[in-house]
Amino acid sequence: MSVDLFEYQARDLFESYGVPVLPGIVADTPEEVRAAAEKLGGVTVVKAQVKVGGRGKAGGVKVAKDPQAAFEAAQSILGLDIKGHVVKRVMVAGGARIAEEFYFSVLLDRANRSYLSLTSYEGGMEIEQLAVERPEALARIEVDPIAGIDLETAKSIAVAAKFPAELVDKVAPVFVKLWDVYTGEDATLVEVNPLVLTEEGDIIALDGKVTLDENAGFRHPQHEALEDKDAADPLEAKAKAADLNYVKLDGEVGIIGNGAGLVMSTLDVVSYAGEKYNGVKPANFLDIGGGASAAVMAAGLDVILGDAQVKSVFVNVFGGITACDAVANGIIGALEVLGDTATKPLVVRLDGNKVDEGRAILAAANHPLVTLATTMDEGADKAAELASL
Ligand SMILES: Nc1ncnc2c1ncn2[C@@H]1O[C@H](COP(=O)(O)OP(=O)(O)OP(=O)(O)O)[C@@H](O)[C@H]1O
Ligand SMILES: [Mg+2]
Repeated sequence: MSVDLFEYQARDLFESYGVPVLPGIVADTPEEVRAAAEKLGGVTVVKAQVKVGGRGKAGGVKVAKDPQAAFEAAQSILGLDIKGHVVKRVMVAGGARIAEEFYFSVLLDRANRSYLSLTSYEGGMEIEQLAVERPEALARIEVDPIAGIDLETAKSIAVAAKFPAELVDKVAPVFVKLWDVYTGEDATLVEVNPLVLTEEGDIIALDGKVTLDENAGFRHPQHEALEDKDAADPLEAKAKAADLNYVKLDGEVGIIGNGAGLVMSTLDVVSYAGEKYNGVKPANFLDIGGGASAAVMAAGLDVILGDAQVKSVFVNVFGGITACDAVANGIIGALEVLGDTATKPLVVRLDGNKVDEGRAILAAANHPLVTLATTMDEGADKAAELASL
């Protein structure tokens, strides 16, 4: 999982690593924007803080010559809907006198098990468009994960990206600092579009997009404060609080399984079965992992049953280290814990270690909500059918 940062958060991170940025103050109302513009003085730029590209084109970035103009810009930007993201906050940034715009990014290249830097002397254009229309203007340089981007490498990147000789020495140290942000924060993306040369001759990161790798969160306790709790799906937030590996999807059949591979194939099998039953689909991905205790099962069921879209639940477990009898006891225990809040039918398929014992426990419990299935296909079919009723 990953966390995308707002521009102002990326700006703050950049600043802490010595990447040259302009001052920026966040504000939630036009009055706060006016005060921020007064504090900054001179020309400012009011920028929508939404996690979506193309803010400028959508009217979400406005230059303001004085605090009153900043106030008016804020009135038009706050509340604006940019590709489905409503602007609740802006950043008031110092205004740069731009001479030239460039592009720089470094990202995780999963396909090549490596890092990749994308750099162009020709900024100002959307990078996707540049990559298609003028691929030769975009330098794609693999970055050795161990060696990283030192000053030498940074210079060679600038040369490959066709920066003129007199700019190479100016931008290279900034590339090194952006690499420091990338590794220092365990990011999977650091993008600056545009990186600019000002009329005064300074290199400045005018925009910043950073994605952090949540799997490295344990190394960065301060990252937690960067997460946008308001935007998180409430079910995903609840699952996260319970330490569950859950992703909300848009269907009707709740899914619980153990092991990511089994859960993914369960999604496929349920989707396939659902075609026969009004096209019902999986409602989520949930991997309860190895230790499927009653507590974990209860927490998982609780999240899934809290999804108003869910009509049935398919529990598909292959007993391994945690044997099927423990899982069966977990399910019964979970239903006891949940009591009246558990109202949706459960189809359970158990296989693997101690499968007979597990099935016997469920059969003996004879819970009105639970149906046993012998195979994965049968279970998926039954769960899809129940969801379509
Ligand atoms: N602080 C600033 N001073 C002067 N001009 C700015 C400043 N910030 C942005 N601009 C101008 O506005 C343009 C768009 O700004 P920015 O890159 O931040 O938004 P965007 O590219 O539209 O959004 P996104 O990167 O999310 O797609 C920049 O290319 C630059 O020309
Ligand atoms: Mg930009």
